[in-house]
Order: sequence, then structure tokens, then C-alpha cells
Amino acid sequence: MKKIFYLLPILIMFFTSCKKANSTSEEVTASIIPAPSSISMLGGDFIITEKTKIIVPSMDPEIMLSADLLAQLIKNPTGSAPEITTGTRAKKGSVVMVFDPEVSNDEGYILAITPKRITINAKTAVGFFYAVQTIRQLLPDMVEKQEVIEGLKLSVPACIIKDEPRFSYRGMHLDVGRHMFPVATIKRYIDMLALHKMNTFHWHLTEDQGWRIEIKKYPKLTEIGAYRKETVLGHAGRPPLKFDGKPYGGFYTQDEVKDVVAYAKSKFITVIPEIEMPGHAMGALASYPELSCTGGPFEVNTRWGVMDDVFCAGKDEVFTFLQDVLTEVIDLFPGTYIHIGGDECPKKRWEKCPLCQKRIKDEGLKDEHELQSYFIQRIEKFLISKGRNLIGWDEILEGGLAPEATVMSWRGTRGGIAAAKLNHDVIMTPNTYAYLDYYQCEPAGEPLAIGGYLPLEKVYSYNPMPEELTPDEQKHILGVQGNVWTEYIPTSEHLEYMAFPRAIAIAETGWTQDNKKDFEDFLARLEILKKRYDAMGINYFRGEYRDTRAAKK
Ligand code: ACM
Ligand code: ZN
Repeated sequence: MKKIFYLLPILIMFFTSCKKANSTSEEVTASIIPAPSSISMLGGDFIITEKTKIIVPSMDPEIMLSADLLAQLIKNPTGSAPEITTGTRAKKGSVVMVFDPEVSNDEGYILAITPKRITINAKTAVGFFYAVQTIRQLLPDMVEKQEVIEGLKLSVPACIIKDEPRFSYRGMHLDVGRHMFPVATIKRYIDMLALHKMNTFHWHLTEDQGWRIEIKKYPKLTEIGAYRKETVLGHAGRPPLKFDGKPYGGFYTQDEVKDVVAYAKSKFITVIPEIEMPGHAMGALASYPELSCTGGPFEVNTRWGVMDDVFCAGKDEVFTFLQDVLTEVIDLFPGTYIHIGGDECPKKRWEKCPLCQKRIKDEGLKDEHELQSYFIQRIEKFLISKGRNLIGWDEILEGGLAPEATVMSWRGTRGGIAAAKLNHDVIMTPNTYAYLDYYQCEPAGEPLAIGGYLPLEKVYSYNPMPEELTPDEQKHILGVQGNVWTEYIPTSEHLEYMAFPRAIAIAETGWTQDNKKDFEDFLARLEILKKRYDAMGINYFRGEYRDTRAAKK
């Protein structure tokens, strides 16, 4: 009876989510998100016993990340972790990881689960890691909790899975400028990305409402710039505005940043920091008003929106400051990309500023848009000199793209398409599909959000590859990202509510080939996944997932 009970989640999983259990058809879909490239059910189970070992090609730390993760998942409900040994032979009753140069994609893997053994073939350590995340989703939900169940026998259904991502860039963004979240929340967010095979965390660290990263050379950024005196109540677009009267703020120390970056690395996730310029800079300008056109004084903003005061493009001190900041940032973040924002920069101050106007004249620029382009190009030159690459929001197209820049298309897909046609790399993150701060169902009864209407079904329906691009231009579409802006997201619980499950629709869009995507099947898999989320204590959205407005049309 006990055994049946413990197998029940797996049985339910396969009866509710496999289209054809026991079939070897490629169409069979197990409850894995993102859906793998192919899966064939074999019948039977691999049973994990006290004798089960994990055999690795070497004790290389990158490989051990996957072996340790699997061992921990098994230990959580059974109380005993399988032994990890080196070897190449797929001994009976064991899980063996084999390096295989024939696996076509660096992040891909082939997972063969038979009643006798589990074999994982991968070209790189990240392939092993993703195979373990797949095994995790085939194991019952109880592996997510550290609660030992006496006499438990864990098992996974026998199947062959061949899997690789559609896109190399699969990301989620988080704004910590408007509201800040504890390091523990950031790590949990990263865990969720890893569970769903995402490989990038875009950390939006500086804003008008708060500068959130310690910079040793400029201590006022966090002494002054990290704190606002109060916060607007209700929707900032609906005057008269009222404020809560409570100081708000905080920042991540460099040690905390290093801890997050190392944690993400252990999940094969690259962290891209974003340091906003020339706009969204009030955290910096409140700290160092001399970096503005007018000289201030300024306060860290207490309401949301786009502010007229921005970094002065005419002062060389501004570039010295930003290069110093970026130098510290580069030391903290080992990834290739540094995001410099570039969005929503009003030109009002530049139009009146003698130094900005002098710069336009001296550099032979046509207007303030070209001045913004000059600004970004100057920063790009610096980043390239440090061996890094610049990413900016699609406004960096205005006035001319910096030569090597990668564009994040957020105002729909137009900017991304234009950039790809100019042979620039692109990450698609259109507000029309990927802004997870928008309402996820009809707003009535929902917590206040910035606006919009972006149900799970709509997020899921997105195909990041624009049809109007030629095959060569399409190569520039690196992938897809979901964005979580946090003006109206004050707590970790609320963050999870807004992000999940929509973030995993993004994960599947980034990983799974478009012709394998099927919303009804995704919903069926999600129903099973929800129990895992319950075990993990994730506060995911449980309401209407369908696009009911589309249905009414
Ligand atoms: C943005 O949403 N301002 C990039
Ligand atoms: Zn100026």
C-alpha cells in the first residue's frame, strides 16, 4: 500500500500528462517543463535503492554540481545520499554520466532511463546539469522537501529523452531598484530558472528610486542613492499622489553580489548586471549631483516614471565616473555582457545644457539622439577595451547603434527586427509578451499592477523568431527573456506570484522548438508541476491561465 502511495504521483503524472503512455511514439510528452526535444516511454521504472551509485567521469567540480544535486534530491526524502564514484561503466542499478562529443549541442543531453540503470550522455557539464533537472522533474515532488519518509523507494519512469535548447539565451530579469529583495529571494529565483533550464539572470541594479550595488570608489551611491524618503501609494499614474511617509532602501554589498554570482554559476546561470545610463539615474545623481546637467540638488525618487534629469553627456567627469563604476562591476561579474540600460532618456536637459550642446557641436553630431548614441558608443569602447560586450534596450538604436552592441527589444519586436537587419545580436523581451509585471488575468480582484493584460496563454504563444528576417538575420536572435519590473511588487511572495508560472512559459519558449509547443499540453504538465511548487513553497499564480479576452474576440 505504502509503495503504491508513493508511486501515486508518478502514476498520476503519466496518466494525466502522457498522451500515449507505454508508446514509443515521439509524441509522448512527460511532465517536464520545458518540453524536451523528444521522449520515448519504455515501460517500467528505475528504482533507486541504498545500492544506487552515481558514477561520474571525474570529480571535476563542474561535474560534481550535477552529481551533488542529484544526490541531494535523493537524500531529501530518503535520508541517505547515494555514493558518488568515478568510472565509465554503466553498472547495474547506477546512474552514470558519460562525456559524449557526439551530442550535438553544448547544453544538450541524452538521458536513457531503463529499469536497470540511468545513463546520461552530454558534451559538457551543463548537459549533465540539465539532464539532472529533467530527472528531478521525473522524481516525485517529495524530493523537494527535506522530510525523511521511512522505507521510501524512489523511482523514475523508464524513458529515452534527447534534448537540446532552441535558443542559446534564455533569461529572466529582475528590477531591484524599485523594490529590493533579500539575497535568499534572489537565490530562490535563480533556483527556479535552473529548474527550467534558463541560463541567464539579468539583474537590474540601478534606478531613479534606488542605487543597489556597493561601489567602493563612490560610497555616496549607497549612503545616499540607495535610500528614498518615502514611496508613492497606489498607482503613480493616477493623481493626486499620496505617499507612505516611510523611508525605504538598501543595497547589495560586493560580498553579497559575489555570493549571488557564484551561486548562479553553480546552476550554470550567468548574471548580467545592468547599470542604467544616461537615464534612470536619479539614485546616482542624488548622490553626486555634479554629474547632471543642472547640478541639482536632487532626491532619490519617491514616485515611479521617467525623470527629466539624466547624466550630463557634455561632462568628461560623467564618463570617468561611469568607467570607474563599470570597472568595479566588471570585476564582480565574469560574464561577457554588461547591460547599460539606455532606455527612456528624455533629452530635455541636454537641449538646454551648454556643455551637452558644446559636445554636439564639437563631435559634429546632428541632435540629442546622436548625442545619446555618442554616449553609448563611448561606453561601448570602454567595455570592449575590458573584453566585455554591451547590451542596451532598443532605444540605443536611436541616433545610431554602437558598433558591437546587442539589443534588447522591449517596445514590442520592432527594435529587435531592425537591429538584426543591421547584423546586431538581439534578445527578444517584448512588452507585448514578456513583461511579467503586467496583469496576468482580468485586473478586478488582483493586486495592483502597472497595467496591461498578459495571461499565461499569451506569454506562451510568443515565437521570438521574426518571420520577416532572412535566415542569416535570424541567426542574430539569441533568445528570449521575461522582465519583472517591481514598482508594484514590494515583496518576495508577490514577486513569485507575478513571475510564476509565466516565467516558465518563457523558459519553454526559449528551450523547446516552436513546432513542439502546445499550450494544452503545457497546461496539463503545469498541473503536475504545481504540486512540486507546493512542495517547494512557491507562491505561484493559481487563477485563470487562458487569454479570455482573445476567446471573446
Ligand atoms: C523598459 O521597460 N524601460 C526597458
Ligand atoms: Zn549636460
